[in-house]
Amino acid sequence: MKEKVVLAYSGGLDTSVAIKWLPEKYGMDVIALTLDVGGEKDISSVREKALKAGAVKALVVDAKELFVKHFVFPALAADAIYEGQYPLATALSRPLIAKLLVDVAREEGAKAIAHGCTGKGNDQVRFDVSTAALAPDLKVIAPAREWRMTREEEMEYAHRHKIPMPPAKTTPYSTDQNLWGRSIECGILEDPWAEPPEEVYAWTKSPGESPDKPVYIEIGFEKGLPVSLDGEDLSGVALIRRLNEMAGAHGVGRIDHLENRLVGIKSREVYESPAATVLLKAHKALEMMTLSKEQLRFKERVAQEYADLIYDGLWFTALHQDLAAYVQSTQRHVTGAVRVKLHKGNCIVVGRKSPKSLYSYSLATYDKGDVFDQQAAPGFIYIWGLPVRVQAQVQLLEQPDGILGVSVRKEK
Ligand code: ARG
Repeated sequence: MKEKVVLAYSGGLDTSVAIKWLPEKYGMDVIALTLDVGGEKDISSVREKALKAGAVKALVVDAKELFVKHFVFPALAADAIYEGQYPLATALSRPLIAKLLVDVAREEGAKAIAHGCTGKGNDQVRFDVSTAALAPDLKVIAPAREWRMTREEEMEYAHRHKIPMPPAKTTPYSTDQNLWGRSIECGILEDPWAEPPEEVYAWTKSPGESPDKPVYIEIGFEKGLPVSLDGEDLSGVALIRRLNEMAGAHGVGRIDHLENRLVGIKSREVYESPAATVLLKAHKALEMMTLSKEQLRFKERVAQEYADLIYDGLWFTALHQDLAAYVQSTQRHVTGAVRVKLHKGNCIVVGRKSPKSLYSYSLATYDKGDVFDQQAAPGFIYIWGLPVRVQAQVQLLEQPDGILGVSVRKEK
């Protein structure tokens, strides 16, 4: 009996060619696995396509709920944004795909898994490292990293082997998408000085052409998880879908990122992440109200570590488990609602409320009802400033030009 390999199949040219190439090169039977993570592209015909190309079996799995519950929402709770810009849509989907590839490989008794990544990107790292953690005995094959074919040669190969061709490529762009966002690379975008042309965008309206009238949305959170929109309870998948539409219609969520890849390349990446943009802002706003200053400071550092580990393919690690436990603990009072205004490409938080709010009106107000004891301030300031006063007297005032380093009077 032939050995089996489970291939992550997208229906595109690379993975279609891989279905033929894998048996030819490795003598293995190919089981194609396609995941629906909310990319919105038509995957109804993908099973048939895989079988036509030569797969012995083709599976299509709806993984949208798994994706949101176990990957997207934990990243949202962590406020994970790579380099302050990228909400990590593609990066979050890779460990899930790796997990399902491994699960199917176990069920089918396969000895290997395969993916369509090239040798220049981050995704290969995420697939390979995730698989190494989950199933160190499985071989990982990346045909497009091995075969050294150009795009033309791949087309020619597909033609020769009567592989059903994906619709002829009409744009020079390479894209990936799921519920959390869409990425666009290549073509003119490889010139970092060139403004992304309007044609690269598919989920967002140009802010200039978006409605003149702003729209307001109220997002309800329960322990850090978004649970409702404008008072209506929604599943995570439905909530993200609706926000992608609403925010996208107002031009919200366009990101132009000159990004540091794990493999050492700087790369210009354009993203559309309407729902992620809104939810990350709203979630952070609720944390500003329900977490202490010290919790917020520390969590910000964790957020950066968390984003890096997602980006770098380290989802299935002990470090991630440790950070996730910390993040989970921080969310126990992050319950309430946030109101955002969407207008002409902007998403602005305009209101927040929480039963666990640490904001105290009677402490903050300058009006009647003020309970803050202003007479206590001088004592607090005296002690707070004590080390400053001591150091100034002992070390700083004796410098030739005093603490400032220049003599203000002499400079005139
Ligand atoms: N630069 C982003 C990342 O590394 C997006 C990658 C898109 N992947 C793709 N195969 N088109 O996560």
